[in-house]
Amino acid sequence: MKVLIIGQGGREHALAWKFKQSPEVTQVFVAPGNAGTALEPGVENMAIAATDNEHLLQFALAQKIDLTVVGPEAALAAGIVDVFQAHGLAIFGPTQKAAQLETSKVFSKTFMAEQGIPTATFESFNDKNKAKIYARTHPLPLVVKASGLMAGKGVVICETLTEAIDAINTLLECKDSEIVIETFLQGEEVSFIVMTDGQHIVPLATSQDHKRRDEGDLGPNTGGMGAYSPVPWVTPELEEKILSSVIRPTLAALQKENTPYCGFLYAGLMISPNGELNVLEFNCRLGDPETQALLPRLKSDLFALCSAATHSQLQNKSVEWDQRVAVSIMLCAEGYPGPAKTGDSVNNYAPYCGEDVKLFVSGAIALEEQLITSGGRVLCVSALGQTVHEAQIKALCWAEQVDWPGKFYRKDIGWRAVARE
Ligand code: AMP
Ligand code: GLY
Repeated sequence: MKVLIIGQGGREHALAWKFKQSPEVTQVFVAPGNAGTALEPGVENMAIAATDNEHLLQFALAQKIDLTVVGPEAALAAGIVDVFQAHGLAIFGPTQKAAQLETSKVFSKTFMAEQGIPTATFESFNDKNKAKIYARTHPLPLVVKASGLMAGKGVVICETLTEAIDAINTLLECKDSEIVIETFLQGEEVSFIVMTDGQHIVPLATSQDHKRRDEGDLGPNTGGMGAYSPVPWVTPELEEKILSSVIRPTLAALQKENTPYCGFLYAGLMISPNGELNVLEFNCRLGDPETQALLPRLKSDLFALCSAATHSQLQNKSVEWDQRVAVSIMLCAEGYPGPAKTGDSVNNYAPYCGEDVKLFVSGAIALEEQLITSGGRVLCVSALGQTVHEAQIKALCWAEQVDWPGKFYRKDIGWRAVARE
């Protein structure tokens, strides 16, 4: 079987690596891929952009690709799933319309309010003055969010009115832009991701991302500085509550509205100290770096699962996990999450660092077997251990060795779970 993975980050490297392990898969292509996928045995990069529907389609038809899996939201927003489905190609991911759950915060917040899915109280605006009146008349802190895709940079947590006014001015700068202003929620976050064919649901293991740049969860928001899996305090009872109050009603409502959802569905949840849950956001794909913590623990055949889903056959399927925990630490380039320094050679890169540690490439290109940094998040070290602490130590050991000028990373990924141990 031939598999095509769309995207170019660490998530896609982890997907390509995992799909290649399936006994059914003979070849994995990644469009456009990165240095990690270029150097991964049995995986081949194709120089086609993730949002270039026309060339992706031509390639998939010419190569008789059996299954395509979409990594990034930009490809979903460009409608790649609609294009492939119209040509009878099996593709795992939601249609452009269903992906609005992620691509438009106004859509997803309105959808949640209509369906009674728990989420922070909000209002949406395209008028600066009305937004400012709302900010002035509601208690702080407030969260101001751009409605459209902003690569993790569209959310501002405002402690003061001045910050809220600034955020409103910045995010409503462009013509036709929209924002959502919502109540600030207290608690601990968890990423809850499921696979679905629209009707049947296979929940994946839980994970927790660390969005802030600096240790102790300080500094600006990023796309994610590291993750671990599983999250020990998510009990089977809480999982059932998430499924019954968020995942099942969401899929049922989409089905009813003639927008069936096939793909990974990721609910970013805030769980308050008294166990109340709220959806912070939906993503219509796997998380990055959650994927790099999840897939090393996944024992089941991911090809078989995705393929079954594209044929509406996910019923009675389940997933088996390595009982060990995984910690993934993102190694970043100077400047990230702002404009990052690129073009540096990476020293001591090794794709495999023993059985329990794997390096995934997020933002680097290969130049004659040498890795050259090409993005803000460059590498992700994922390690398995009996405890979060053990996995963290193993990952840190490799995070130290792989090197380039200006590299930085958080040494406390998983700190909440380590404290509980
Ligand atoms: P989002 O893209 O909506 O998930 O927001 C990015 C991050 O901002 C989340 O992972 C949270 O850490 C934080 N955040 C978003 N909305 C809220 C909220 N209503 N209350 C507290 N933190 C929030
Ligand atoms: N790690 C958060 C995300 O993928 O959106």
